[in-house]
Amino acid sequence: MKVLDADFARGFIRMADDGYAMGWHERNGGNLSYRIRENEIDMVRDDLKEGEWKKVGASVPDLAGEYFLITGTGKFFRNISLKPEECIGIIELDDSGENYRICWGFDENNAPTSELPSHLMNHEVKKKVSNGKNRVIYHAHPANVIALTFVLPLDDKTFTVKLWEMMSECAIVFPKGVGVVDWMVPGKRDIAVATSKVMEEYDAAIWAHHGIFVSGEDFDLAFGLLHTIEKAAEILVKVMSMKAEIRQTITSDEIRMIAKEFNVEIREEFLD
Ligand code: 13P
Ligand code: ZN
Repeated sequence: MKVLDADFARGFIRMADDGYAMGWHERNGGNLSYRIRENEIDMVRDDLKEGEWKKVGASVPDLAGEYFLITGTGKFFRNISLKPEECIGIIELDDSGENYRICWGFDENNAPTSELPSHLMNHEVKKKVSNGKNRVIYHAHPANVIALTFVLPLDDKTFTVKLWEMMSECAIVFPKGVGVVDWMVPGKRDIAVATSKVMEEYDAAIWAHHGIFVSGEDFDLAFGLLHTIEKAAEILVKVMSMKAEIRQTITSDEIRMIAKEFNVEIREEFLD
């Protein structure tokens, strides 16, 4: 089977289109990766090639031998569905988890995203803490999440509670909360290490003055998580822009009631 006929590639491209439509991917902003299942890679094996081994820029031994579908550096999300073979590609990791080679795509000398170290280190952590279920890592530049990083203190508790308070759904969709990473130079190992630490506890890491990383078991869950967080951030930005005192909100006890009703384990230490 051709890679582009496989369900995982179709789901990946659809998610990229949806993210662009949401306005989260100006120019080449953002990147997406999917850890491919063994049976899925077997189905497309005839369509694969073997490129040269290159350094990942991080060490991810628990992902040794795994294959990923991932966006290319400098590529625009709005072009992914038009020219997928140039804008995205499949990479394979070697036995040490320190080198990768291109197996499909990245035509015209393209290469994986500059955030490859962050994607792979996040995949490694998430694979471990989810017992292998988690397969998607998604980075985007949603304006409202970024705007909040200029006016809220950059701590996990403040961001989490402020977002939980904005919509009842938030406590259900991300009961573990969101983590925050201080501003750092993108594309480097240091920001990858900081983000993967946050990902041990949370499914979302907000990058100050830059964007957000989320993870999920599949495309729907990763996209839905980012969508919910950005929607809550948008409401908070609107409320703060009104310059009115908040007269009422969803209280800590009410968040507890939601958690009880929907049977989710809320991060209790963040509540009053
Ligand atoms: P890439 O084009 O290398 O994926 O970088 C985009 C980005 O958002 C960096 O954080
Ligand atoms: Zn970015």
